[in-house]
Amino acid sequence: MPKIYITRPIPVSAVRLLEETFGKDAVRMWPEDTIIPRQKLLQNVAGVDAILAILTERIDDELFDAAGPQLRIVANMAVGFDNIDVPAATRRRIPVSNTPGVLTETTADLTWALILATCRRLGESERFLRSGQWKCWSPTFMLGTDVHGKKLGIFGLGRIGQAVARRARAFGMDVMYYDPTRYEFPREAAMGVRYVEFDELLRESDILTVHCFLSPETRHAFGEAQFCAMKKSAVFINTARGPIVDEPALARALKNGDIFAAGLDVFEEEPKVHPELLACENAVLLPHIGSATEETRAKMAEMAARNIIQRLHGEVPVNCLNPEIL
Ligand code: GLV
Repeated sequence: MPKIYITRPIPVSAVRLLEETFGKDAVRMWPEDTIIPRQKLLQNVAGVDAILAILTERIDDELFDAAGPQLRIVANMAVGFDNIDVPAATRRRIPVSNTPGVLTETTADLTWALILATCRRLGESERFLRSGQWKCWSPTFMLGTDVHGKKLGIFGLGRIGQAVARRARAFGMDVMYYDPTRYEFPREAAMGVRYVEFDELLRESDILTVHCFLSPETRHAFGEAQFCAMKKSAVFINTARGPIVDEPALARALKNGDIFAAGLDVFEEEPKVHPELLACENAVLLPHIGSATEETRAKMAEMAARNIIQRLHGEVPVNCLNPEIL
């Protein structure tokens, strides 16, 4: 009987899938909805065949050493996998999988929620009302910026970027994108997007939204120079990964009026949020809930579980990130 370790309570349907396949005793799970202490994690993975991890766990050489040579897969319950040292896993011939596709539409919905909340100052407005400060309707009160008809800039046109672009059509927007890989023209036309270089994306976007993976190339892709190049009326949105943005630089840009507002679902050192961002009324800040719906989290967990089942049954996991080793 294989041993499977789950690093945090996940939707029950996925646990059931593993238990029904391998037996109840095969599955162990960290029982608390808190980050498992590192030492406990290292102890608890010793001798396991599979780890179902979430993005708060650092999966690296130290953890592979602690697990031991029988480890046959790490399945991440996330599309992003910057918490995993994939080259280290590859060196050890351990497959790693992620959960692409199932969270695309949900994350695009949340991106749009942030775009609307940020442009129309929803966080600030709600705080104002709840604190009892609202006295009367006013022609000049809480003025935001229109979304419809504006220029939307997408940084990274992968699955989620494209889903965001699809929604932009309903708002009659001019959609531009920058991505190191440019699509062929017919594909761009079908998606209703046009390619621009990064500096044009910065200069032209009314709303700029980030949808790339975190990598050495994208780390701090947005810093002081980039925020200064944007319109003073621009709105910046990030639902991808925090370290793509230099947070102190963003906080300064918001404070100095270099851009109008920002909507963030991700942060450089989660769960810490830079104190200067917390002080910005023109920032809408969410606790990394991009894929947080009942339906989607169940699909993500089940997908991670299925990758484990495939691997332990001797198949190539469908969402394997390093299939060349198998
Ligand atoms: C969430 O952030 C994910 O990468 O799935």
